[in-house]
Amino acid sequence: MVKRKTCVFISGKGSNLKNLISYSRDSSFPIKISLVISNNRNASGINFAKKYKVPYILINTKIKSHENKILMSLKKYKISFICLAGYMKIISKNLIRYYEGKIINIHPSLLPKFKGLNTFSRMLEKNETKGGCTVHFVNDKLDSGIKIIQKFFFIKSGDNEIILKKKTQNLEYRAFPEAIIKIFRDI
Ligand code: GRF
Repeated sequence: MVKRKTCVFISGKGSNLKNLISYSRDSSFPIKISLVISNNRNASGINFAKKYKVPYILINTKIKSHENKILMSLKKYKISFICLAGYMKIISKNLIRYYEGKIINIHPSLLPKFKGLNTFSRMLEKNETKGGCTVHFVNDKLDSGIKIIQKFFFIKSGDNEIILKKKTQNLEYRAFPEAIIKIFRDI
């Protein structure tokens, strides 16, 4: 089986990156993580790229030419699929155009509810009964592309932001790989 060469974009801890690297080591998993891009040079997730010997590139989104650097790097590594895993920047329209239908994102809420940042505090404020995560295709509107997979849990009365995050991420570690399998199974 020919694995799709994939780039994972991160900005922080990279626990989803680590999880995807570990899944991608299975010969039947449809993608190979060939590149990691971080917009944050202090992202601890970069250490997973180092540990598992995945090439990584740091980009400074304050510099105008950063988009070119991203596109050149994706080309250099023959990337045909992109996973956004805690990437805290909006992807440019240009990049979305080049990779239409080939960029997915994981979001820590049951979209279309709670798009954007600070999902857990807003969920608690609104007394939500369910939390969860969504894997979706990326389009040019924030957290709005077609959904691939959602997983949910029931929020308990004592749940705080830390607990919600933990429960959500535990679901993310299953949802992200399942979404990828689903995409390539359906092609
Ligand atoms: C995840 O919870 C994801 O839903 C959100 O950012 C977080 C990234 O976590 N978009 P990590 O860096 O993968 O640990």
